[in-house]
Amino acid sequence: MRTLIKHVLASEGPSENMTVKGWVRTRRDSKGFSFVEVNDGSCLANLQVVVDANVPGFSELAHLTTGASVSIEGELVASPAQGQKWELRARKLEMLGAADSTYPLQKKGHTAEFMRTIAHLRPRSNLYGAIFRMRSRLAFAVHRFFQERDFFYVQTPIITASDCEGAGEMFRVTTLKGNIDNRGAEDFFGKPTYLTVSGQLEGETFACALSNIYTFGPTFRAENSNTARHAAEFWMIEPEMAFCDLQGDMDLGEEFIKAMARHAIEECAEDLALFGKFVDKGVHERLKFVIERPFVRVPYTDAVEILKKSGKQFEYPVDYGQNLQSEHERYLTEQHFKSPVTVYNYPKEIKPFYMRLNDDGKTVTAMDVLVPGIGEVIGGAQREERPDQLLENMKFHKLDPKDYWWYADLRRYGSVPHAGFGLGFERLIMFLTGVSNIRDVIPFARTPGNADF
Ligand code: 4AD
Ligand code: MG
Repeated sequence: MRTLIKHVLASEGPSENMTVKGWVRTRRDSKGFSFVEVNDGSCLANLQVVVDANVPGFSELAHLTTGASVSIEGELVASPAQGQKWELRARKLEMLGAADSTYPLQKKGHTAEFMRTIAHLRPRSNLYGAIFRMRSRLAFAVHRFFQERDFFYVQTPIITASDCEGAGEMFRVTTLKGNIDNRGAEDFFGKPTYLTVSGQLEGETFACALSNIYTFGPTFRAENSNTARHAAEFWMIEPEMAFCDLQGDMDLGEEFIKAMARHAIEECAEDLALFGKFVDKGVHERLKFVIERPFVRVPYTDAVEILKKSGKQFEYPVDYGQNLQSEHERYLTEQHFKSPVTVYNYPKEIKPFYMRLNDDGKTVTAMDVLVPGIGEVIGGAQREERPDQLLENMKFHKLDPKDYWWYADLRRYGSVPHAGFGLGFERLIMFLTGVSNIRDVIPFARTPGNADF
């Protein structure tokens, strides 16, 4: 029976017999014995294995180079070395798979750019192992957060015929050959279909039946923006709540981010310490700050005023009615407020049709949560629940109501105020780890010009 190194290192006492399997990180040879550092990915730390010259399999040791896989049976004893409690005294050693000198993870300190070219091997490094262990734990925490609050998990479709965000950034899904323009009726689904940009519209139908729901799945955007925070394929978490307004929506977004930061500190301590050492010295402090303080809330109009009065030379001009650019968002959260900020009530022109029109007739009940180092991590809104106004909104955004008949039905039959938001899972991980490029927190990045692996 094999024991994961994570459990070996957490042993309460010595053990007569243990088997570990993993990959060799380093080997140091001395006279008559060798030290082999083995890692199996179950935790950051390696297990030190001591192999005496008389151990069966010792002759294979010369081939046991960095990257090779190995199975070792032995006795777990207290380690005399500093910084580790236990070491394994090998009784039997077997190399499972060799790795020759072309193994790319020989040296420490490769650049993130280089690591992206070996995305199939990078999880074997300390940093990427830590990132992806954390990603897994957070995914679990996301489900736990919502399940504990009586939200139901809804799996919304990946192939869709409706454009939720109305921004025209969708990937077409087709089985047609040759020119596909205006041939939707001949296509597989009898109409043009796309990879979803958001599960929200479908999510709303379930919220208007089960009260509180969330989605958590892959999401696609064909925007050709080569930035550090955009991916063509990313994972989005979208809660939706019936009988909820913008206030309740902002409260949930804030509570959610705080809960994730708490989870990172409490459940990912070892990996988080690594990020603090090698990625972002301030990460731990930042998370504590986020947990302890309420987020600032500011209407869009005030945010624009603050930006205009800042005296900062932005690349993109600030003007009422324009979208906030990343540089504006980051100024607000990093320099002006020095805190996460929820900006709300945006002009209707720059937000999608489904958001609820405010009484001023100019703004809609949108809210974006901005965090230091990232900018927007959450985008959400209270939804337009009044049937006539929804129709007006569609006209305003030049959408054909026929395409959204089922969505409008929610307003026809037992309409209720409801609200929700979308949070980019990768952006959350960037925020919680300090890793500054989205390509490094998703197992295999899909970005313009890149679909390797
Ligand atoms: O602000 P967005 O576009 O909002 C929606 O899609 C709504 N339908 C959500 C809702 O109300 N249910 O996207 C939500 C979040 C953004 O705040 C951002 O964190 C992330 O999704 N996001 C991306 N993450 C990575 N790469 C991209 N290209 C992203 N586009 C959006
Ligand atoms: Mg947005």
